[in-house]
Amino acid sequence: MGYNKDNYRRIRDEYVNKAALARSRAEERKNELHIRFPELREIDDALAQTGIRIMKAAVEGKKGLEDRIAALRREVEALRGARDDFLRMQGYPEDYTDIQYECKKCCDTGFLEKGMCTCMKRALILAGYESSGISTLMQKQSFENFNLDYYSKNDKYHANMKFILKTVRQYAKDFTTDKARNMLFLGPTGLGKTHLSTSLAKVIIDRGYDVVYESAQNIFSDFEYDRFKSGYSEDRSGGRASKYLECDLLIIDDLGTELSNQFTISCLYNIINTRINREQSTIISSNMTQNDLRERYADRITSRLLGEFKVLFFMGEDIRAQKLR
Ligand SMILES: Nc1ncnc2c1ncn2[C@@H]1O[C@H](COP(=O)(O)OP(=O)(O)OP(=O)(O)O)[C@@H](O)[C@H]1O
Ligand SMILES: [Mg+2]
Ligand SMILES: [Zn+2]
Repeated sequence: MGYNKDNYRRIRDEYVNKAALARSRAEERKNELHIRFPELREIDDALAQTGIRIMKAAVEGKKGLEDRIAALRREVEALRGARDDFLRMQGYPEDYTDIQYECKKCCDTGFLEKGMCTCMKRALILAGYESSGISTLMQKQSFENFNLDYYSKNDKYHANMKFILKTVRQYAKDFTTDKARNMLFLGPTGLGKTHLSTSLAKVIIDRGYDVVYESAQNIFSDFEYDRFKSGYSEDRSGGRASKYLECDLLIIDDLGTELSNQFTISCLYNIINTRINREQSTIISSNMTQNDLRERYADRITSRLLGEFKVLFFMGEDIRAQKLR
């Protein structure tokens, strides 16, 4: 399972810097106090010495070791007590020179013994919203505000949409990278194809997967950029379009609105075929009918779209128009 690799690298670096900054800030506070209060420096020096003495005690032999260590421990405690008292008297909190990590659980390492700390998971999820391309849409569109009443004028449409909603929610819940599960959302404008795509994307990003959402048009222009305008000769070697081949779930919206030509068709074939071969999931939305698809794209594309994708037909009355009433 994969958080977006670039996000992961960037956030891991941010954690390293964050932890280093927390340590250097604590060091600064300590130095500043040592300059102001030489008596505090003496206490700190003594504390540092006891650390060394404990290590020495350990190599001096087993006889009476426990007593020697216990005595040193008492000394440390007395020094710490004196230090706390001194700081308090000067009007500083006792932990003034402690390292103030943003996350106390992982000390800004991002990791615990058991695995990734929740703070780093959260940072990766927030970054995932951004890199998915739908952070603003996701704030407005969710399973929670997907209302089936908009389809209730017609029983068949209502039942159909209820089934689609259930299927899509289940898809989001069960999503894994073990096996490709593809869906094709077909239907006229304003029926919730994009709404359900963003809703499921959010759930899947929250579950820690790398999701990319983009319109067909923009996907093709990214491939075009890589091919003709940048130094990348192979679209797999990096560049703008590599994310479409690499992400765990790719959502292609509005297929059919692009200006179709040989290049876009070969791109589409490349995306679909590569992802199917690598068992990576893809969801495609389109206003086109199955016949439109057959006419517009080569057989090798449509046979994959209609054979390897679960087709869901959106039916109803344009919700954009209903909302205007
Ligand atoms: N069931 C629903 N409940 C509430 N709002 C909805 C529902 N379905 C769609 N909407 C809203 O209606 C508008 C149009 O929906 P959406 O963009 O999902 O349609 P679409 O099927 O993707 O249309 P198009 O084919 O034109 O892209 C959006 O603002 C969306 O949030
Ligand atoms: Mg749409
Ligand atoms: Zn943490």
